[in-house]
Amino acid sequence: MNSPTRAPRTVLVTGAAGFIGSHVTDELIARGLLVVALDDLSGGYRENVHPLAHFVEGSTLDVPLLERLFRDFEIDAVIHLAAYAAEGLSHYVKRFNYESNLIGSVNLINASVNASVHRFIFTSSVAVYGDLTPPLHEDMRPLPHDPYGIAKWAVERELEISHRLFGLPYVIFRPHNVYGVRQNFSDRYRNVVGIFMNQILKERPLTVFGDGTQTRAFTHVSDVAPVLVDALFSQEAVGQVFNLGADESFSILELAERVSQAMGVPLRVEHLPARPEARHNEASHKKARKMLGYRPQVALETGLREMAEWVRKVGPRPTQRPRPLEIPHNLPPSWAPPDP
Ligand SMILES: NC(=O)c1ccc[n+]([C@@H]2O[C@H](COP(=O)([O-])OP(=O)(O)OC[C@H]3O[C@@H](n4cnc5c(N)ncnc54)[C@H](O)[C@@H]3O)[C@@H](O)[C@H]2O)c1
Repeated sequence: MNSPTRAPRTVLVTGAAGFIGSHVTDELIARGLLVVALDDLSGGYRENVHPLAHFVEGSTLDVPLLERLFRDFEIDAVIHLAAYAAEGLSHYVKRFNYESNLIGSVNLINASVNASVHRFIFTSSVAVYGDLTPPLHEDMRPLPHDPYGIAKWAVERELEISHRLFGLPYVIFRPHNVYGVRQNFSDRYRNVVGIFMNQILKERPLTVFGDGTQTRAFTHVSDVAPVLVDALFSQEAVGQVFNLGADESFSILELAERVSQAMGVPLRVEHLPARPEARHNEASHKKARKMLGYRPQVALETGLREMAEWVRKVGPRPTQRPRPLEIPHNLPPSWAPPDP
C-alpha cells in the first residue's frame, strides 16, 4: 500500500537532461533531496544534469532498467518529464510518439505502483484540450486532436485508474509554452522561442506559420519547476490536475519582435503557409493559484533577455537530425526537406 504522508527522500526524475527536467533536478537538490536522473539523451544534454544528481543514461522503455533503479535506489517519488514533445510532428511519427510518451509512461507507472511510491508527478500538456475554446480550465473534458495530446491524455486517465485501483498518489500538471535557459533550440519541430533564437544566430529570418496572429502565453521555466517539486509535499494536490503557465498572451509576431529585441537584431520575418494548430490556447490558472499558491513572476522581456544571453554564449546549434517519418504525407512544406 502507498503511504501518502511519508516525505520523499529519493526522487527519480525522467527527462532530467532535458530543459524542464534539469531545472526540476536543480530545485530538488537545492531542497536537499537525492535525485536519480534518467534520460536517454535523445533530446537532452548530459551537461544539463546537476553534478550531484546520480545520472543514468537509459530509456523509460527499458523495463529491466526501471525495475533495477527502483530497487537499487529505493525510489520513493517520481517526477516524470521524459517525452518527445513535438506536438505538430506527432502526426507523422505516431508510433514513436506513443512508444516514448505513452508506453514509456506506462512502464514507469507499473514500476511506481510496484514500489508503492509516495508521489508520481506527471507533466502532461495543454495539448490535451485540442481545439476546445479558451480559456482552458481543468474541468473541461479534454479532446486532444493530435497523437501527442492523445498520449498525454491517455497517461492522465491511466494515472487516475492506477490511483483508484492501486492507490498511486499522482499529481498532473498541464504546462504550456515553457521557455528559458537550457531549452533545446536545435529541434526545428518545437520550441518557437528557441527556434527564433537559433535562426537569429544563423542570420536567418524568423519563420512564422501563417499570419502570426495565433497567440500563446509564454511561461518562464523558473515559474514551472518549483511548483512540480512543491507538489511532492502537498497532500491536497494528490489526484488533481493543474494548468500551469503565464497569464499574458502574445501573438507569434509579437514574440518574433521581442526575441529580436532581446537578441539585439532588427526584426526579419518569413511567413510560411499556415499549419494545423490551435489559434489560441490561453489557460486558466485559478486552480493552481488557489491550491498551490501559484504566482508566475517572470515577465517575458526579462526571461527572453536571460535566455538570449545564454543562447549567445552557447552559439548556433546544428539543426537536430530529423526523426524518420512514419507518414511522409501532408507534411507542412517547410518541414519536408532536411534543413541544411
Ligand atoms: N516545454 C514546454 O513548453 C512543455 C509544455 C507542456 C508540457 N511539456 C512536457 O514537459 C516535459 C519536458 O519537456 P521539455 O520541454 O523539458 O522537453 P525536453 O526535450 O527538453 O526534455 C525531455 C527529455 O526527455 C528525454 N527523453 C525522451 N524520451 C525519453 C525516454 N523514452 N526515456 C528517457 N528519456 C527520454 C530527452 O532526451 C529529453 O532530455 C515533457 O513531457 C513535455 O511533454 C513541456
